[in-house]
Amino acid sequence: MTAEERLEDIEIAPAKGKLGVLLVGLGAVSTTFIAGVEAIKAGIAEPIGSLTQMGTIRLGKRTDNNTPMIKDFVPLADLNDIVFGAWDIFPDSAYDAAMHAGVLEKDLLAQLKTPLQKIKPMAAVFDTHYVKRLSGTNVKEGANKMELAQQLIDEIADFKRRNKCTRLVMVWAASTEIYQKGDHAAYRNINAFEKALQTNSKAIAPSMIYAYAAIKSGVPFANGAPNLSVDVPALVKLAEDMNVPVCGKDFKTGQTMMKTILAPGLKSRLLGLHGWYSTNILGNRDGEVLDDPESFKTKEESKLSVLEHILQPDKYPQLYKDFSHVVRINYYPPRGDNKEGWDNIDIFGWLGYKMQIKIDFLCRDSILAAPLCLDLALFMDLAQRAKMKGIQEWLSFYFKAPMTAPELYPEHDLFIQLMKLKNTLRYLRGEELITHLGLEYYD
Ligand SMILES: NC(=O)c1ccc[n+]([C@@H]2O[C@H](COP(=O)([O-])OP(=O)(O)OC[C@H]3O[C@@H](n4cnc5c(N)ncnc54)[C@H](O)[C@@H]3O)[C@@H](O)[C@H]2O)c1
Repeated sequence: MTAEERLEDIEIAPAKGKLGVLLVGLGAVSTTFIAGVEAIKAGIAEPIGSLTQMGTIRLGKRTDNNTPMIKDFVPLADLNDIVFGAWDIFPDSAYDAAMHAGVLEKDLLAQLKTPLQKIKPMAAVFDTHYVKRLSGTNVKEGANKMELAQQLIDEIADFKRRNKCTRLVMVWAASTEIYQKGDHAAYRNINAFEKALQTNSKAIAPSMIYAYAAIKSGVPFANGAPNLSVDVPALVKLAEDMNVPVCGKDFKTGQTMMKTILAPGLKSRLLGLHGWYSTNILGNRDGEVLDDPESFKTKEESKLSVLEHILQPDKYPQLYKDFSHVVRINYYPPRGDNKEGWDNIDIFGWLGYKMQIKIDFLCRDSILAAPLCLDLALFMDLAQRAKMKGIQEWLSFYFKAPMTAPELYPEHDLFIQLMKLKNTLRYLRGEELITHLGLEYYD
C-alpha cells in the first residue's frame, strides 16, 4: 500500500462523560496509581512512564514530520473524567492503604489526602485457599460462588449509577493467587463454568469471579497478576459474545521488562546463551504473598516463559538449546516496595568464547506498575468504544505473559509489542501501518 492509499477510519464512540476505573485490590500498585493520577490532576506531578500521556506516534513518511501525541491522536478519556472504585479484603481507605504500602512520601500523600480518603474499598470476594498468606475482614459472604458473582454485578451497576459514569473498566491489581492449570473441565465452556460457580468448585478462584462479573456487566477486564483469571476459554468466549475486551496477564515492570529488552538484542547479534539467573529481594505485601510456594509457582511460570519465546531454541539450537533459566523471589522486609533484581547472564560469542553480563536493577515496583494501570484503563476503554472484543493482543506490551488466541504464541519482544500497539492505533484512525520494512516509502 502506498502512503496515499489511506485505510478507512474505524468508528470510535467519543470518550464522553465519566469513566469508572474499578480496581480489584487496593494495595501498593492501586494506591500508587490513584495517588499519581490525583497528583497529575493537581498539577504537582508529570505522568512519567505512561504511553497514553507522554507517548507520541509517527504518521506517514519520516519526512512528513507528523508525530502527534497519542492522546491527541486517539480519543482517550481525560484524567479529570476518571472516578475510582475498589475492592479489598482490608477496609482501609486509599489514603490509609497508601500510607501502609509506604511507596509514596508522606508529604505527597498529605497533599492528596482528601480525594484518597474518599475511596473506601467494597467488600472483597476472597478465600484464603487461593492466597495463603493473607486474611482480612472486609469480605463478602454468599451461599455459593454464583451468588458472590451476582453481588459483584449488583455493586458494579450501583457504582456506575451513583457516580454517573458512562463507561467502566476493571483492573485486577490484587494479590497473586495459587497456581492453577488452565485445562480444568470447568473452564471449557460457559455452561461448565456457571455450573462450577453454583457448585462452589475449587477450580473457580476469586479472580475468575470478578472477571465473570465484569464481563457479564459489559465491563472490560485487564489482569495485572499472573493468576489465570480471565485467561480460560469459557471467559474469553463469554467476552467475545458480550462484546467485551479483555487482556492479561501480569504487569511487565522490573526484571522481566529488562529481560525482554535485552534478550532481543542478544538474539539480533546471534550471541549464544548458556544461562540466565534472576533473583529478587522484595519486602512489600506482594513479596509476602509470593513467599508462599503456591503463589510463587504462578509468578514463576509467568516469568519463565519469556526467554523461550524470544530466543526460539528450536530455530537456533547452536545458540539457545538447553540454556538454564532460574528465577527466584525472596521476601526481605527491610526493602519494602524497593525491589532489587539481580541478573547474571552467561553468554557466548565468536568461537564459543564465554562472557557475562550482570544487571542490578534497584527499582520501585509500584512506581513502575502505576503508569501501566493508567494506560491499560484508558486503552481498554478505547478498545470498547472502538467495538473491539475478546483478547486484546495489541496490549501485550504491558504483560509478562500476554494472552493470545489458543493457536498463537505470545509476542514478548518489547519493541515488537510497542510496534503492534502503535500500529493498532494507526489502524483505528485509518493511518498507514508502519512496519519499518517499506523503506521505499520511509527513507
Ligand atoms: N508492582 C509490580 O511491579 C507488579 C508487577 C507485576 C504484577 N504485579 C501484581 O500486582 C498485584 C498487586 O501488587 P501490589 O504490590 O499492589 O500488592 P499488594 O499486596 O500491595 O496489594 C494487593 C491487594 O490486594 C488485596 N486482595 C487480595 N486478594 C483480593 C481479592 N480477592 N479481592 C480484593 N482484594 C484482594 C490485598 O488485600 C492487597 O491489599 C500482585 O498480584 C502482584 O503480583 C505487580
